Amino acid sequence: MTAGRRLCTVTAVALTLIAPPAGAEVSAKSAFLERCGGCHGLDGRSAAVLVPDLRDQVGYFLCTPQGRAYVGRLPNVAFSGVSDQALAGIINYTIFTVGGTSVPAGAKAYSAAEVGRLRRQPLTATDLVAQRAVVAEAVIAACPAAVGLRIYKSRSAAQAPAKETIR
Ligand code: HEC
Repeated sequence: MTAGRRLCTVTAVALTLIAPPAGAEVSAKSAFLERCGGCHGLDGRSAAVLVPDLRDQVGYFLCTPQGRAYVGRLPNVAFSGVSDQALAGIINYTIFTVGGTSVPAGAKAYSAAEVGRLRRQPLTATDLVAQRAVVAEAVIAACPAAVGLRIYKSRSAAQAPAKETIR
């Protein structure tokens, strides 16, 4: 065996040992970290005031059909450049894992077909903040526990020390 081939074998063995367990959940999590985490925070608590927290909040959008559709139609979601199947995985990870306690009982996972439909009708409003407010008020009317959606920062994040200074 040449030194080069030996190195290849050693590398392959090492990669096998450190590779994470395969599975949709793992790849959806890494896709979330890569494509969404920069804005929304790796754990769903965003650093920026104008980016809403997702942690224990985002599931509330499933309280209304309009809220459910809003999630798949958001520009940063709709245009994320992965297949419908992969995007459904990212959205389901976002809602059911990051959304934690906010997911309404009996909520169904998004299918690739549903995500495909939604992302082909992306939100086009120039004022997303105003559009979000309309969606959020309807969600709060259906699920009063969702009242935290009125502010972008969840209570847990608001209590954390400020991490940024606006200059
Ligand atoms: C460039 C920054 C950025 C990236 C990247 C991004 N988002 Fe967002 N996201 C935002 C902003 C800003 C809003 C608020 C939009 C609004 O006001 O309607 C938002 C809103 C949301 C919401 C609705 C939450 C709420 O309370 O309104 C969800 C769900 C969401 N994003 C999921 C994702 C997912 C999933 C990804 C990755 C595929 C992603 N986002 C990538 C900035 C980003």
